[in-house]
Amino acid sequence: MAVTGLILIGYLLAHMYGNLKIFAGAEAFNEYAHHLRALGEPLLPHTGALWIIRVVLLISVLGHMYAAFNLWSRAHKARGGTRRYYSHKSRTGVQRTYASFTLRWGGVVILLFVIYHLLHLTWNIIHPGGAAAEPYDRVVNGFQIWSVVLAYTIAMIAVGFHVRHGTWSALTTLGANTSSLARRRLNVLAYAVAGLVTVGFLLPPFAILFGFVS
Ligand code: HEM
Repeated sequence: MAVTGLILIGYLLAHMYGNLKIFAGAEAFNEYAHHLRALGEPLLPHTGALWIIRVVLLISVLGHMYAAFNLWSRAHKARGGTRRYYSHKSRTGVQRTYASFTLRWGGVVILLFVIYHLLHLTWNIIHPGGAAAEPYDRVVNGFQIWSVVLAYTIAMIAVGFHVRHGTWSALTTLGANTSSLARRRLNVLAYAVAGLVTVGFLLPPFAILFGFVS
């Protein structure tokens, strides 16, 4: 769960950074999209490096989901049935932490978002705002519609919560949570990474919606 999660966070940071090229204009953004496909040439065939990244991503997503189901089922068995531990902190008396809620349901929201996102911006199957051949035009057409921006905003908030707890949890699993100082640092890092990813991803949609990028 931790290792695949960190690979996915690395991808998110790189993807978010790449998306900011939208502020450099149509030519720079389309050139960047083209460059992703030419990466590694002539050593690798055209789109070779991109396919390696895609395979690593797919394996990471599947591994991450497998680990999530596995952990959920172990926790379920360990409780000896369907009931969660009794907790006096909760109004219902049933333990449900903010982290377990945002990680599990956030994960489902993110999965649904990625399918919608691929249909929209990668496979070009749905075209809110009008069809376009170039990636820049697809992005700009889509984010002129407030409901599309709203859908992306909800998904990015889910991503932010997921990354916040995920960063903390992954680094704890890998042994970084060794003292109260380390815990404080982990917390700062987790909030910083989650904030960066959420704000960085949301800048292009809102800049387009409000007409700063057209
Ligand atoms: C507002 C936020 C986002 C924007 C504007 C955005 C934009 C884009 C664009 C333009 C592409 C197509 C690139 C191309 O074909 O050249 C793309 C692909 C992709 N995006 Fe995003 N993205 C966003 C958020 C996310 C998030 C949060 C995730 C993951 C949870 C994600 C995962 C992907 C994946 C997996 C691809 C396909 C890469 C490939 O195989 O070619 N994106 N995105």
